[in-house]
Amino acid sequence: MPKEPEDKVLETVSPSSFDFAPLFRAGLPPAAARWNGRVKFDFTGGNNDADSLPLDGLIAAANAVLKREGRTLSTYGLDSGPQGYRPLREFLVGKLKADAAIACTADDILITSGSLQGLDLINATLLERGDTVIIEEDCYQGSINRLIRLGVTPIGIPLDRDGMRMDALSNALDDLKRKGAHPKYIYTIPTVQNPTGTIMPLERRQEMLWLSATHGVPIFEDDCYADLIWSGQRPPALYAIASRGGVIHIGSFSKSIAPALRVGYIVAPWEAMSRVLPLKTDAGSGALEQMVLAEYCAAHFSKHVPVLRRSLRAKLETLMESLNEHFGAAVEFDDPKGGIFLWIKLPDEVDAARLYQPALAAGVAINPGPEWSVNKAHARSRLRLCFASPSHEEIHQGVAMLADVCRREFGVPGPGARVDRAG
Ligand SMILES: Cc1ncc(COP(=O)(O)O)c(C=O)c1O
Repeated sequence: MPKEPEDKVLETVSPSSFDFAPLFRAGLPPAAARWNGRVKFDFTGGNNDADSLPLDGLIAAANAVLKREGRTLSTYGLDSGPQGYRPLREFLVGKLKADAAIACTADDILITSGSLQGLDLINATLLERGDTVIIEEDCYQGSINRLIRLGVTPIGIPLDRDGMRMDALSNALDDLKRKGAHPKYIYTIPTVQNPTGTIMPLERRQEMLWLSATHGVPIFEDDCYADLIWSGQRPPALYAIASRGGVIHIGSFSKSIAPALRVGYIVAPWEAMSRVLPLKTDAGSGALEQMVLAEYCAAHFSKHVPVLRRSLRAKLETLMESLNEHFGAAVEFDDPKGGIFLWIKLPDEVDAARLYQPALAAGVAINPGPEWSVNKAHARSRLRLCFASPSHEEIHQGVAMLADVCRREFGVPGPGARVDRAG
């Protein structure tokens, strides 16, 4: 039987012989490297504690919700409309009220595919190439990189132990006004900041809202770590205390339940929400995840989170102890009030970007500070270490290995740095 032309093509053209390169649009990010698996001692990313994942509860929730309403999966949006599974939004209404003092309705909430999609949607709604925004100087890499790719200039405001400094914010707003530039928003992670772990107290939140209102610049509040405060006590969200509005709030289930579920949310007044919704053109975020989360969280969220917090706090203790043991006086850090990261400072001779490769070759993955800051000089000798995902033993061994590599590359920590745990 004669062969079809398609068969001939399949026979003669190998999958890699087509040259895509001339077709790629200008300005694409650098090509991705292939994934080679996780390293032995992984202190990177925002991964969670596998042992604290409420697996049995999620399995039971999946069974219950699918048996009860699984047939709604036949409809885009599960009979809940374009803003996401209604019972999940209703759970959030109660949770946000109880924890963050936010008074909102299910119609003020949009479920997104992770809060990263929330960042993208808000940016797509508000930003144009050439715009300026204000952010914390040390800040989430995902937020910084998005701004750079959009051709938006981020102005970094230094932090102290209470988060973004209001004197510096006030000066920056005045300075931009003098130059005729009107920033599109002030982006902040006020409740367990990434990477510094600071929490902005209530008075400073009020000051920030006053500056925002005075200068007519809205606040973009990213609250994805707010469930992970050791004390369980958090100040009200900026969204909650903004008497004149002007705040958009995003949050996530990545840090309290599991990042791979990819479920986050936006809370915004309808004036903003109604302009965000037409930009969410994916026909809805993953429905199973939303159904399982709603079912699980309604019954178990408030009991699960304190258990998770305790296990994260214990891992942080192990990390701080290991750093003191192996780096001694060569390492500085503040004990964060919550979260999954420790932001550490090594002596000035350590170039964190140059430490990255030799550490990786030794099986230790770290996040070099400059990638988490708009002030590269300030972050040059800093590292962000995620303590949630490695086990206690991996934390001990990984820090010991990192100290060896750092000593070999930079002479730091010195030979006398090691402090015996008993001492
Ligand atoms: C400050 C901040 N915002 C947003 C995100 C994105 O989280 P997700 O998309 O998993 O909700 C992260 C993740 O680490 C983060 O640290």
